[in-house]
Amino acid sequence: MVGVVAGIESYRADFPILSHEVNGKALAYLDSASSAQKPEVVIKAYKSIYENNYANIHRGLYHFSQVTTEKYESVRKTVKRFINAPSADEVIFTRNTTEAINLVASSWGQKFLSAGDEIIISGMEHHANIVPWQLLAEKIGLVIKVIPVLDDGTLDFEGFKALLSSKTKFIGLVHVSNALGTVNDVKSIINEAKDFYSDIKVLVDGSQSVVHSSVDIQDIGCDFFCFTGHKVYGPNGVGVLWAKAEILDEMPPYQGGGDMIETVSFEQGTTFKSGAAKFEAGTPAIAEVIALGAALDYMSAIGMENIAVHEAGLLKVLNEGLQSVEGLNIYGTAANKVGVVSFTADWAHASDIAMILDQCGVAVRTGHHCCMPLMERFGIDATVRASLGLYSNENDIEALVSGLKKAKEMLS
Ligand code: ALA
Repeated sequence: MVGVVAGIESYRADFPILSHEVNGKALAYLDSASSAQKPEVVIKAYKSIYENNYANIHRGLYHFSQVTTEKYESVRKTVKRFINAPSADEVIFTRNTTEAINLVASSWGQKFLSAGDEIIISGMEHHANIVPWQLLAEKIGLVIKVIPVLDDGTLDFEGFKALLSSKTKFIGLVHVSNALGTVNDVKSIINEAKDFYSDIKVLVDGSQSVVHSSVDIQDIGCDFFCFTGHKVYGPNGVGVLWAKAEILDEMPPYQGGGDMIETVSFEQGTTFKSGAAKFEAGTPAIAEVIALGAALDYMSAIGMENIAVHEAGLLKVLNEGLQSVEGLNIYGTAANKVGVVSFTADWAHASDIAMILDQCGVAVRTGHHCCMPLMERFGIDATVRASLGLYSNENDIEALVSGLKKAKEMLS
């Protein structure tokens, strides 16, 4: 066992889906970066809402509505603790990371950015942190500058510094690359940007970071932070946007509707709630938010440090295993990376390899990983990507390596 954390392997049994067979083989699920599997405690929390106390929130004086409202609102406090936010009232529930970034681009961006302003993103952003800015740039005339990616899959810090100018207003950065696993030193980038001009606002996309180790957003020093529920062992359809209270106060609503208003009048117009509530129009994903809380509590109970150590040990085994397969090219060799490994093979295309791996019960993602500019940077159109979760073990990696050897035999 590589995990030096005693007993962490036992948590695998908490994930019912992992005991399934695929194509007559034990499932080796190595696609957690795409979406993580769910532990029993999350499935139960979700089911329990509908079975035991479901009602709409914020709207009823009766028992179930109040219980459900309390459970929903308590997840804001759970998120606050999980990312060390200053206040639970700064925690907004969205549909996912994509919606969180669209919210910032649409609300903050349209109010505070104007023609000729410059924004900086990196060359390893997920499309979710590229396209909303491109749409806004087209609409209001922004200039988008891109931090170059070095050959080892890290960001070019000197190249970043050269992009800063008196017109820089915003920086959008991925904390951990979903395609390469690189952990970006977002704190140094933010310090550099804020030293240059303290009013530059920085959004950190934490979709792939919060699941692998403990994240302290106050230490990072960002203005906006977001992540998605389904990658942190929680349900689909819920995500989180955190932003500083003083920024939220200045931002107009993203969507209008029920629950985000104070008063609505045909004569006097509408006034809005303050804090997070202003950005949650309509009935939210109630059961999903509550189950997300269960997922975050689950990870905290295991300990983010224990998860990080376990996955780091497995990443070493994964890298060693891949080196035993001839003709693989690994993309992203940063010293600081999480358990996400992308590779191509000299002897076959990524999608052909993935199909054979599936026959072996091994689930990996292939393609551009929603990072087409990054693929272009490396002159490729696709990689095979294996990604680890807290439940991953050496058997999963053995199945991948032997599946790759089989694929090589069949395809080369
Ligand atoms: N962003 C997800 C991934 O990296 C879907 O696979």
